[in-house]
Amino acid sequence: METALFPLSQKAQINLRHMYPKITQVEGNTTQKSLQITFYSLMTVQNTNYHAWFRCFNGCTTQTWSVFDVIYQCPHCGGLLEVAHDEEALKQKSAEEWKALLDKRAGRNHYPYGSGVWSMKEMVLPDVADENVVSTFEGNSNLFWAERLGKQIGVPDLWVKLCGNSHTGSFKDLGMTVLVSAVKHMMANGSPVQAVACASTGDTSAALAAYAATAGIPAIVFLPYNKVSRAQLIQPIANGAHVLALETDFDGCMQIVKEVTRDNSIYLANSMNSLRIEGQKTVGIEIVRQFDWQVPDWIIIPVGNLGNISALYKGLKLLKNLGIIDRLPRLVAAQASKANPLYQSAQLNFARKVSISAQSTQASAIQIGDPVSYPKAVEALRETNGLVEQANEHELANAAALADRTGLYNCPHTGVALAALFKLVQRGEIRSHERVVVISTAHGLKFTSFKTGYHEGTLPEVESAYANPLVVLPPDVDKVKAALQARLSG
Ligand SMILES: Cc1ncc(COP(=O)(O)O)c(C=O)c1O
Ligand SMILES: [Zn+2]
Repeated sequence: METALFPLSQKAQINLRHMYPKITQVEGNTTQKSLQITFYSLMTVQNTNYHAWFRCFNGCTTQTWSVFDVIYQCPHCGGLLEVAHDEEALKQKSAEEWKALLDKRAGRNHYPYGSGVWSMKEMVLPDVADENVVSTFEGNSNLFWAERLGKQIGVPDLWVKLCGNSHTGSFKDLGMTVLVSAVKHMMANGSPVQAVACASTGDTSAALAAYAATAGIPAIVFLPYNKVSRAQLIQPIANGAHVLALETDFDGCMQIVKEVTRDNSIYLANSMNSLRIEGQKTVGIEIVRQFDWQVPDWIIIPVGNLGNISALYKGLKLLKNLGIIDRLPRLVAAQASKANPLYQSAQLNFARKVSISAQSTQASAIQIGDPVSYPKAVEALRETNGLVEQANEHELANAAALADRTGLYNCPHTGVALAALFKLVQRGEIRSHERVVVISTAHGLKFTSFKTGYHEGTLPEVESAYANPLVVLPPDVDKVKAALQARLSG
């Protein structure tokens, strides 16, 4: 047991309680601005001016919890939690100072601040000690100028944010670095947590397994049997996670993992855990940074469990609150028609949440019927004058293939977002002078059977308008020349 004497303001005392879940005794006379604190263990103080804590997203209580507490839902109303930041402390730096700091850090070698996520540590999870950060240099992904595709569809200022260009091939790395860092910090400070667990449509488990393996923490993943790609399946296996394939869908796996993690020894790593959202929110901030702090007009994002769109909005809203930007882009949530509960709810003006049994779709990572982060996504869409669009199998596969012809290599989920873009342009909703960003959530290399099926013309409900079948010929120069002439002149 150790004791420390601090001259502290009342606000700082409150912040300390969030930072140090193990404070067991607080004595002090705040008028004299002194406070004596007794700790079981003393955590390293980092970024001392900045703090974050959990609070109820519904606002049903003023109670708050430490980000190092094992808690996923509000114990009073059962709703989602969110991470709140001391924005007054963040506002002590001017917008210009924040921009300069983030510009200076991102992509550099100073661990962990070169990471796209940890370059914004004060805005993400300031209370975690630097030595507990588990980073693979996530973020800083390419914002691809889709010049040829944009010209073809009449929106030349079109960009694709390649979140799949990351350690495990999807945007999930952005959130998982934060969650696993918090777990490492908790374990280093005597928490009962022994392992991390998630339900997954493929990408979450790949990211959790990799970050847990990097930190040396056991990982357990629940996958819907036969519903994830082979590449996604082998990732957690290779990283040594305990991989359990359940004969159900994602929503069924989610029910099981919630039960398994009731015991505080196994920590829940799904996006209902709002630590993930803190990391994923950096994508919006990073896009704005990559445009030299200019705000695009639209951001289109494929959605399933609705964590990522909530995160995108949260990051942008923080920038606005800090005066770094003065308006928000309009957000578009894109769903596969076979798994479209948000789209259905949007038709009802979000009067109620719709839950369905999601049908099989090539966009398997968004085959989710009962989205956990629904209330956060509705706020994101309402506050940004957003839209929800859907794409069927034919539309998503052909949108991905058309964009591939212009140099991209799209996963089916990015195909859903691109198909939504094409529809909105055709309807005149998105206009030709506007700047549009499509978020590509995973790398196409994870979805090889989708790609080969498309070009072989075997995908169900898809007519492959841009199929590029393999040309098989004998090793005969004349036949080769004839074949080339026929193709190049056609
Ligand atoms: C590739 C890909 N795209 C999109 C999503 C949708 O993200 P969210 O479930 O947070 O809406 C997921 C994960 O579910 C994903 O793995
Ligand atoms: Zn509540």
